Parts: sequence; structure tokens; C-alpha cells
Amino acid sequence: MSQPAREQWGTRAGFLLAAIGSAIGLGNIWRFPAVAYDNGGGAFFLPYVFALLTAGIPLLALEYAIGHRFRGSAPLAFRRLHARAEWLGWWQIAISLVIASYYAVIVAWAGSYTVFAATEAWADDPEDFFFGSYLQQTAEAGALGGLVPAVVVPLVAVWAVVLIVLLRGVRRGIELANRIMIPTLVITFLVLVVRAVSLPGAAGGLDAFFRPDFAGLFDPAVWVAAYGQIFFSLSIAFAIMITYASYLPRRTDLTGSGMIAGFANASFELLAGIGVFAALGFMAATQGIAVDEVVADGIGLAFVVFPEILSTFPALQGLFGVLFFGSLLLAGLSSLISIVQTVVAAVGDKLGWPQRRAVLVTGLPLAAASLLYATRGGVAYLDVVDYFINGFGIAAAGLVEVVLIAWVLRTLDRLRRHADGVSDMRLGWWWTIALGVVTPVMLGYQLLENLRTAVLAGYGDYPVAFQAGAGWVVAAAVLVAGLALARQGWRADVLQLEDFTVEADRRFLKDAS
Ligand code: ALA
Repeated sequence: MSQPAREQWGTRAGFLLAAIGSAIGLGNIWRFPAVAYDNGGGAFFLPYVFALLTAGIPLLALEYAIGHRFRGSAPLAFRRLHARAEWLGWWQIAISLVIASYYAVIVAWAGSYTVFAATEAWADDPEDFFFGSYLQQTAEAGALGGLVPAVVVPLVAVWAVVLIVLLRGVRRGIELANRIMIPTLVITFLVLVVRAVSLPGAAGGLDAFFRPDFAGLFDPAVWVAAYGQIFFSLSIAFAIMITYASYLPRRTDLTGSGMIAGFANASFELLAGIGVFAALGFMAATQGIAVDEVVADGIGLAFVVFPEILSTFPALQGLFGVLFFGSLLLAGLSSLISIVQTVVAAVGDKLGWPQRRAVLVTGLPLAAASLLYATRGGVAYLDVVDYFINGFGIAAAGLVEVVLIAWVLRTLDRLRRHADGVSDMRLGWWWTIALGVVTPVMLGYQLLENLRTAVLAGYGDYPVAFQAGAGWVVAAAVLVAGLALARQGWRADVLQLEDFTVEADRRFLKDAS
């Protein structure tokens, strides 16, 4: 039995749209505006841009180089990089698996709200509607309380779309879907932002968003938040970009693609911040209160505050509501596709399975697992798992990735040569310093801070036992799963990689010209 041939993206634009589609997601619309505001507003941009330039774009280029050079999903690519590195790939896959399980549910909520928005189903109490009528939340954290049909139905639809796209493969499925979804998303979102900034009171919201609180620059928590945001938002350190880069053809500009994806995601994030705060400014002005009284965190911002704003919209409430939640749905779907494909590709590589088989055998159980968050107690699980998998999954896996590659295996230079050999732009000394020194220091600090906060203060008002079960156990389980999965051997033919060195690339480029 031979390994099925690896699929390739049809065009560079197709790859870029898929990479940007993976990056732009719930993190941009659902998380970024509140994180930026909580962490000093205008002053957050400096840490954010610093994190983008020292960790975001360098890691994107690194992951593209690994995926392209070793042409495999994360476990296979890391295994080909070094016999002892495979576990890191599986650890990241396990993180993606957990993220996919709850991410799908938020996408399903966005789907429901796209429909609710047309008639403003939340009437005059969006908070009660969301947590009560829609999610039927139980009061007791940890109690499951049965499935909620109103969430299960859109969740099944979300999984159906994702799995159908993935069954069609990389080019005819993922690339085509992103070619449709991303331009639609950008146009829709631009319409929304233009409308938001023209609302009365928008300037007050933008002022609150951009007004720098420079004291924040001296607060380490702000820097920690910036790094956390960059990792989740750019889809780095959870195996996605390695997988997507493994479908690139030989001729490709890795570094340029990293720059484009990184800046496109940051621009969209900024756009989301402008749109959201302009709308918050409008609501604050309508109610005659200060903007900080209307800001809420992720879940509350999108599903409670936004419906409130929409209810007071001067005209066409239904239309703008559908556009807003439709954007959230599209952004979430394109990211979810990438997260699930990462898991599917790893299983396919390991077992030598074709895409279709890997999609069905992996995707269906994963979809079933996500039903946990569609129960009446699901939202508490979602909140805690999201917090711990970000703080102790992505941050730790990112730290291990850079330390392992830069200091333990010392393969940074080799990967840089590979990227430079195929890219238009060369990775300079800043890349080595950023990944070898700055990112490990910042991520190490972030991890310690996260640990300190979680141990001393815990997360939210949840009981300690619940945090331990849904948070610490999940964060530890992904690491244990990574270590355990790496103990299974590979078929020898899978590990063989036809020479794909810089010289081979150069030869290829010469032959092609
Ligand atoms: N990068 C994706 C997001 O921002 C996961 O939501």
C-alpha cells in the first residue's frame, strides 16, 4: 500500500485566502475588540504590533517553512525534522482537536443569530434571551442538564458544511470555500464598519478605543494579553499553518505569504475594533452613559451587547444584524475548516488514509464530542476550556516549539535557508533573534503569569473542582495525548521524503524558467 499523493493548492492566491481565512475568525471579531479595550485601548497597539512582528510573523514564516520543507501535517513534519520532535506535533493536534470541539458551537450560535437577527428574536432582553431562552443555561457549573435542540440543530448544520468542504479535498474543497467566503466576509464587514462609524456617537466609541492609557505599557499583563491574542488570532502553535503549508507547491514565496497573512489578519482585527467600538459609542450615546459601561467580554459582547445595539439602530436593524452575525459565521467557518483539517491531515498521514476516510473517521466523532457544549451546562465548559487551552495549551506549545527548534535541535538556520531559498524576501537576523530570544522570553513570562493568575485567583466564579476538571485536566490531557501518540511507529515509506532541499528548489526554479 503506498501513501496517497499529497494534494496541492491550485494557486498561491488560493493558499493565501485559506491561510487568511484560518487566521480571521472568532478571535478577530469576538475576542480582539474587548481584549484591546481591557488592555489599555490605544496603548494596546504597541504591545500588539510588537507581538505581531516578534512572534506572529516570524512564527508564521517558521511554520510555513516546516510545512513546506517536510510536507506533512504537524506530527509527520516534526518527525521528519527530528525523530524526537513528533510529540510536539501531536500535542498541537490535540490542542486543535479541543479548540475545534467548542469553536464549532460558537459558530453554530452565530448561525442561529444570523436567523434571529432578521426578526430581532431577542426582543427587549437580549441577555435573558441568550442565556435563558436560547442556551437554557443551568445555574450549576458542571451540570450538563441535557441537550438544547436549538443549539444542536445549527451545530449539526455547521459540521455538515465543514465535513462536506473537507470531503472535497484541499483544492476543490478548502480552497474553493475560502475563495467564496473570504471576499464575501471582507465586503460585508466593510459595509458594517462604514455604517457603524457613521452612527451618531460613534466618535465617542472610537475615542474610548484609541485613547491610549500609557500606564498599561508598564503592566506586564498587557503584554501577555497581546501575545495571547496574536497566537490564537494567527492560528499559530496549534499545527494549522504547518498543515496548510504542506500543500504548497515547490515554487512559492513563504516569507512574503507570512507577511501578507499576518498583516491582513491584523488589518481585519483593527477594522473589527473600529466597527465594534463605533457601535458601542452609538449605544452609549443613545443611553446617555459612558462607553466603558457598555463594553463586555467575548461572549457577552457579540451575543448580548450587539443585539442590544441592533435593537436601537436607526434603520434596517434586521439587515445589519444579519450582516453582523453572518460575518461572524463566515469568519468562524473558514477558521473551523482549518482547525478540523489539521486533525484530519494528521490522522491521514499517520495511517496512510486518503482524505475522505480520514475526514469521516475523525470528523464524525469530533462532531459528536462537540455536543458537550450544546447541553444546558455547555457554556460554562466552553468558557473554562477556552481559557485553559489558550493559556496553557497554545502558549506552552508555542514556547516549546521555539525553544525546541532554536535551542535544542538548533534547526533555525536550516529552516531559514530553506525559506530564503524559495522566497523573494530574505529572513534577516531579526528573525533568528525574534524566535531564538524574544519569543521564548515573552512566552515563558506569559506562561508563568498565566500559571500564577490561575493558581492564585482561579478563573471566573467557577467552583475550584470544576476548573480543575474542565480546565487543568484538559490542558494536561492534550500534552499527555501528544506524548502517547508519538510512541506509535510510522510505516517506513511514509517517513521517506523525496529530497526537497534548497538546491532541489533552485534546480526546479531553473528548470521551470
Ligand atoms: N485564528 C482563528 C481565530 O482568530 C482561530 O478565531
